[in-house]
Amino acid sequence: MRFLALTLALTPFAAVALWQNSFDDHVKKLQDAQSLSMTLTTSVIGGTTEDVRVTLSKPNLMRIDSSAQLITTNGKQIWIYDKSGKTYEDSPVDAGSPASVWLQENAWVYTAFFNEKLGDQIASATKGNSRKLRNVAVTDWTITRKDKAVLLVQMDDQLGVVRGFRTTKDKAEVFVFAKELKIGDTPIAESEFVFVAPAGVTKKEAGAPAGGAALTFADIKPILDANCIGCHSGGGAKKGVVLSSYQEVAKHVTPGDPDSSRMIRPVKRGMMPPGRPLPADTVAKLEAWVKAGAKP
Ligand code: HEC
Repeated sequence: MRFLALTLALTPFAAVALWQNSFDDHVKKLQDAQSLSMTLTTSVIGGTTEDVRVTLSKPNLMRIDSSAQLITTNGKQIWIYDKSGKTYEDSPVDAGSPASVWLQENAWVYTAFFNEKLGDQIASATKGNSRKLRNVAVTDWTITRKDKAVLLVQMDDQLGVVRGFRTTKDKAEVFVFAKELKIGDTPIAESEFVFVAPAGVTKKEAGAPAGGAALTFADIKPILDANCIGCHSGGGAKKGVVLSSYQEVAKHVTPGDPDSSRMIRPVKRGMMPPGRPLPADTVAKLEAWVKAGAKP
């Protein structure tokens, strides 16, 4: 008898919860969560598939583990471990939150976890069909952001949180699906986000300006690839500044004189990349390269 009463009492609530399932639920669930652990399967449309383990914890902790790289931050330091090269770099977090930036760039729908104001960025959310996707009951939503970007996402009907979304990565269209997703109501210890180098892994010393004379474009290209070319390559390059080849980069540097080099000035002032200044030792490396003659 008791069980029956309980069932009857619960049913209407469950029904209401399902019926009300909306994009606001997704935002609220992430805002209320203390930790979020996911395995994101990223599939290039018509191409390769890769799993990335993402662990987030409030207030600003993040760990991103893929086959090539491990990025982890405890909010004060950020470590980037190159698994095939068996080296890692660590730099202090001077300003901002690398965790928020990573989400913003790679998995915008989950930025609500760190950004309380995600709702302000959304102009409208329209519900579509319900269906099964990789064995999960989902409902399609079309989200239009205030910056006019339109996103198609799949909301997990049971969890009330987005499980799938389309985005672009290195100009390719990709579909991302959270094959595992766990929302935690207690934060994960900060110590879990501190990198401990495995045996045989060495620290890569940042290009000390003293070694500048030996620097060539091969040392600089990875910095530009990782931080600049997303906005500075191809026909849509911002301000026509293309930073994807030596020939193009050479147009914006004055060999021997970093301070009058167009490419260096905004970086040194912390203006580029926008909202995400480069660590001081990376800026020093770019400057040292120009100072030593901006060699190919
Ligand atoms: C998220 C996009 C984005 C990224 C990443 C980015 N930029 Fe920019 N960049 C812009 C935009 C937008 C402008 C135009 C700003 C303006 O109109 O004042 C710009 C302008 C510039 C300019 C021209 C400034 C001038 O003289 O008018 C330079 C040089 C530049 N960026 C260098 C870089 C470098 C170097 C990096 C990487 C370390 C970088 N940018 C990363 C968006 C970006």
